[in-house]
Order: sequence, then structure tokens, then C-alpha cells
Amino acid sequence: MESKSKQFKRHTITSALPYANGPIHIGHLAGVYVPADIYVRYLRMKGEDVLFIGGSDEHGVPITIKARQQHIQPQEVVDHYHTMIRDSFEAFGISFDVYSRTSAPIHHETAAVFFRKLYDKGVFIEKTSKQYFDEEAGQFLADRYITGVCPHCGNEKAYGDQCESCGTSLSPLDLKNPRSALSGNIPVLRETKHWYLPLDQYESWLKEWIIEGHQQDWKTNVYGQCKSWIDQGLQPRAVTRDLDWGVKVPIDNTEGKVLYVWFDAPIGYISATREWAEKNGKDWEPYWKSQDSRLIHFIGKDNIVFHCIIFPVMLHSEGSYIVPDNVPANEFLNLEGDKISTSRNWAVWLHEYLVDFPGKQDVLRYVLTANAPESKDNDFTWADFQARNNNELLAIYGNFVNRTLVLTQKYFGGLVPAMGQLTENDRETLRLMNTFPEKIAASLELFRFREALSELMNLARLGNKYLTENEPWKLFKTDPERVKTILAVSLELAGKLMILSRPFLPFSSEKLSAMLRLECKSWQQAVETPLFVAGHSLGEPGYLFEKIEDQAIQAQVERLQNTKKANTQAQAPVLKPQKSDISYEDFAKMDIRTATILAAEPVAKTKKLLKLTVDTGLDTRTVVSGIAEHYQPQDIIGQKVLMLVNLAPRELRGVVSQGMILMAENHEGKLCFVTPTQDFHNGSEVK
Ligand code: 2FM
Ligand code: ZN
Repeated sequence: MESKSKQFKRHTITSALPYANGPIHIGHLAGVYVPADIYVRYLRMKGEDVLFIGGSDEHGVPITIKARQQHIQPQEVVDHYHTMIRDSFEAFGISFDVYSRTSAPIHHETAAVFFRKLYDKGVFIEKTSKQYFDEEAGQFLADRYITGVCPHCGNEKAYGDQCESCGTSLSPLDLKNPRSALSGNIPVLRETKHWYLPLDQYESWLKEWIIEGHQQDWKTNVYGQCKSWIDQGLQPRAVTRDLDWGVKVPIDNTEGKVLYVWFDAPIGYISATREWAEKNGKDWEPYWKSQDSRLIHFIGKDNIVFHCIIFPVMLHSEGSYIVPDNVPANEFLNLEGDKISTSRNWAVWLHEYLVDFPGKQDVLRYVLTANAPESKDNDFTWADFQARNNNELLAIYGNFVNRTLVLTQKYFGGLVPAMGQLTENDRETLRLMNTFPEKIAASLELFRFREALSELMNLARLGNKYLTENEPWKLFKTDPERVKTILAVSLELAGKLMILSRPFLPFSSEKLSAMLRLECKSWQQAVETPLFVAGHSLGEPGYLFEKIEDQAIQAQVERLQNTKKANTQAQAPVLKPQKSDISYEDFAKMDIRTATILAAEPVAKTKKLLKLTVDTGLDTRTVVSGIAEHYQPQDIIGQKVLMLVNLAPRELRGVVSQGMILMAENHEGKLCFVTPTQDFHNGSEVK
């Protein structure tokens, strides 16, 4: 049967755009980027027209929250991580044709035009609803700006869109005891208008397209998730938010509203294509609008609904776009038996791996592919990493190549010998090695990357078996002619390994190409025999892989153990022992009142001090507070506080301070205001 990829004229391959609010780790590589890169490299080797799209997802509330925490602008956050992520991808050989970003003007324009087209076609429903509003911050609270108790599992830190503890997707109104993540206040409900994508109106189209159309060719995990979403019945989904970071809603009188990050992010694939086309003098439209183009999204399982339901409905309702032909989503990779977590620092970060294991990008690509979470969640362990390097890459692949090259160097001065008369075993080995290009391709066509890689290693095993059976090192003295044939056959196999390993292990394949002085031209080339003409001069033999010692692994394991320890300690903060008793009279001497900060400014030439103007109810006075490293002056205006008002005035850096604001330190060492939980008038006594 003709392969699926052959039925199309061009291939638009996207990989999920990572959020630019943190570095990337092995879970990202294993789930999305390594499989996508293998597939793309394979297609390119087959001579297909393929465009590999990547980029950073630079909108969304977590980015604005991070910026707020760090007292910088969201643009600064995304600039930093965009560069870091892009560099990690490049170092690991992820061969994007374009790596763009959603804060780019071309993206804002593309997303706005897309939204406007749907708006003008009357696709959206306009709805006014009540949403949480933080009166103090003067802002509606989208998704992650609101936290509360999960109604399903009781987690007290669930977000307005999801509980990370039980994984349930939530809406802010589901949360019990909601709180604003901005001020900590209890939010109020206010009316606001938004635009909704009526997914329910596309149910029958989705059923026909996915449930009937893709049962055979989509992975079971992907198909199953889609079916369950559709069977449960779809609801209209808001595609705008009340925020100021994002793509502005392209409709008049919508100040303070932006497109929902999951509306604009997948359009980022289209913007990136436009950027690539502009730079390369190409036409972007065929990649998205031509029926003979094949669109494939590589993603992790948490992105399935967005890529299989929401984005396709957007593309379909727009009218001129194609929809994905396949979405080979992976499950999750765990680390040493525990879920990878950015906040708990439970991860192997790519930028750190590159420092600890320089030049070993292929080892990680190999381990993550051999152990890919293709059909179920999988575990990465350092012990497995070491074993796969030492017992597979080094002992099987590296060993075969090294023996072949070193023997050819030793016996024939590095010149490829001519094949003499072939034995049955030679013929069978040559025949078998020629079956691998097709076998590996068949697995790749079905997105079975583990299987494809294991076949590649079988090819190396075939080489080792052949050498072991023929023992050229024993024959050289008595039958050098026979050794010529054995090494010529082995070199053919090494050449095929170099070609077929290119998508998986691009760096080692290039090294091998230099050692063989054989260029890697195409997938088809691997079926051609002979690859070498007799007398071809090989390059210097060298090592493709090195042993990874126990110490290197131990260092990684210890690092994780330390992380675990630190996490446990962070959960159970070390408390100072209770101070010695005081009398009630002692306590009653303290006059603590509710108060409000009216103004704040840094105290010149100090890092820690802010000069605050405080309304104590009794008067308006100045207090100097050591909180400058924790708060920006403009962020605390209007902050309600508790204050010791009868602390004797004292001069701090030339400013007379008349009182003390009460603060508590959280587990991260941040000073937090101790505020009345209800709306008090200033001057109320704390007793
Ligand atoms: O889950 C994520 O990391 C998202 N930033 C993926 C977005 S994929 C695409 F839609 F941009
Ligand atoms: Zn929950």
C-alpha cells in the first residue's frame, strides 16, 4: 500500500508552542519535539516538501503572574524564556524551519484577522455574564488570577480554570471560597461581555470528521479522548478575556479585552508559516489551505482538546483552511517515579543537561525515544539512561561501527576493500540489511517511534552478529581475501546505519558520515548497495559514544534527592520556638489598628526600605517599612494592613517612622501583609 505521507504534496508539521514562562525539560522533548523532529527529518530524507513549525506561546495569565511576582513587564519574561527555549531546541538538533513567537506583530495581525473573519461571518455568540472582579485591583479575574477550594478534591489552591491536584477542568464559579490572586481579597461578581465559539453547533461535523473518519488512523489515546469529549456534549467556549496582555480584541469599544490564549496560540502556527514564507520568498497559503497538504500536530496529551476540537472548529468555521490529518499526541513522561513539576523543580532541565553532559544530545534523544510515552505514561530514570547508553548505544551501535572501522584501518589502511565471492551468510546479511529502510519507515509512518528505533538497533545487532559469526580478526593471517569481503559487507551495513539513524541521532550520524566519508543523501540511498566503491578512502575511526560512569549518574540522583529534601522542608517550614511568656498588661500596651497605605516611595539610597504614608484612622502618618525587596511601591497603594501605632517614633535613614506595619513571612521568605479579612474602617483596634 502506498504510504500515507506519499498521498500528499506537502506537509505542515506543527509542534506545540511552549509557554515562554520557564525553561523546558525532558518531558517536553520526549512528548513533542523529539518525535516531531524524527518524523520531519525522515520526510525530508524522502524528498518531501515539509515545513516544520515551532515557536513560543507568549500570552496567558501565568506569564503575567510571573511578571508581577518579579516586578517586571510580561514582555521581559517572554523575551528571556523565548531565547532560552529556542537555544535549547537548537542544541538538541530540533530542526525547525521557523521558530516564531506569539508576541510578534505578524502574529497579532494574523490572529486579529482570523478572529475578525469569524466575527464577521457571525460564527461567535456574544454573551454577557457575571465574572469575578477584584475591586481593589480594578480588574476582572481571568482563569489563574482566581484561586479557591476545588469542589471535587478539596485542594485549597485550585485555579479558576483547573485543579492541578485532581486534574479537573474548572470554571471560576465552581471554586469554593474564591480569592483574588492579585490582592488576596474576596472577589465580587460583575457583568462583562465576551465572545463564545459555539462548539455545540459543530458536534455533527466533529462526529463525522473524527469519530467516523479517524477511528482507524488516530492513536487510541487521542481518539478516545476526543470521543469522550464529543459524547459528553460540547459547550460554547469563551474566546476572549478581560486582560491587558494578549492580542487585542479587534472590535470597537473592547478596551481591556484580549483573545483567550488558547484562541490565539494555535493561530501562532499560521503566523509562523507567514513569517517563514516572507523570509524565504514563498507562498504560505498552500501549507494551510490546499487540500493536498497534510497538517499534523505534535502535542502532549493535555493539549488534545485544543488541537482536535477547538482549533479544528476554528479552522473549519473560517472556511478556507484544512484541518489536521493526524494529531499523534503522547502521554506524559515521569521522572524517577514522580510527576515532572516545574514548581517543585522536579525535572531534568535541558539547559542544565547540556552543561552536565556536553555533546551527549543524541544520548538523551535516544533514551527519550526508546522510552517514549507513546501509549501510556512512562518513567525516566537515570539508571535507565546510563544502561541504555552503555549497553545499547555504546555496546551495540558504537561497538559495531568501531570494530568495522578499526579493522579496516588496521588491515587495509582505511581503504574500502573489494567484495570477493559471497557466502550464503554474506548474501543473507546483505539481503536482511536492505529490509530495514522499509521496516523503519513503516513504523515511522504510523508514528511508532519506539518501534522504529528498536528496528534501527536491530540493524546494528545484525552487524555485530555478522562480525561475531565471521571473526575477521581470526582469519586475517590465513585468509585475507575473505576478510576483505567481510569488512566490505560490514561497511555497507555501517553506511546504512549512518543513513537510517539520521532522523533519530543526527549528531552521531554526522560523525559517522565523516568517519565513512559518505554523505547522507536520502532515505532511498539506504536501499542502494553498494554504498561504497572498492578503494574508497575512509576517514579517521573514532568513538560515536562514550561510557557514562557511575559518578555522573550519582551526581544527578543526588541532585534530585536534594530537591526532594528541599521540597519536603518547604512544605513543613522550620518554626522558631515560642518566646517566653508575657503578661496581659504587656500585651495591652500594644496599640494595633487597622489602617490603609495611601502612598509609597523608595527611601533614597536603600534597597530594603519604603516610605509609606498610612491612614491609621487616627491620623495620616509616615512609616518606614523594610519591604522594598518584596513589593513595588505602586502595587501596595490601597493595601489594608495591621499596624502597631504606638511604637515610639524613630529615625530611619533620615525619615521619622511613626509605627510598624505587621508582616508575616511565607515559606519562600516573602514578607506578606497581615490584612483584616473583612472590610474594616481604619483605626479599628486589634485586641
Ligand atoms: O501547553 C502548552 O504548553 C501550550 N503553550 C501549548 C500551545 S500549543 C499551540 F496551540 F500553540
Ligand atoms: Zn481537585
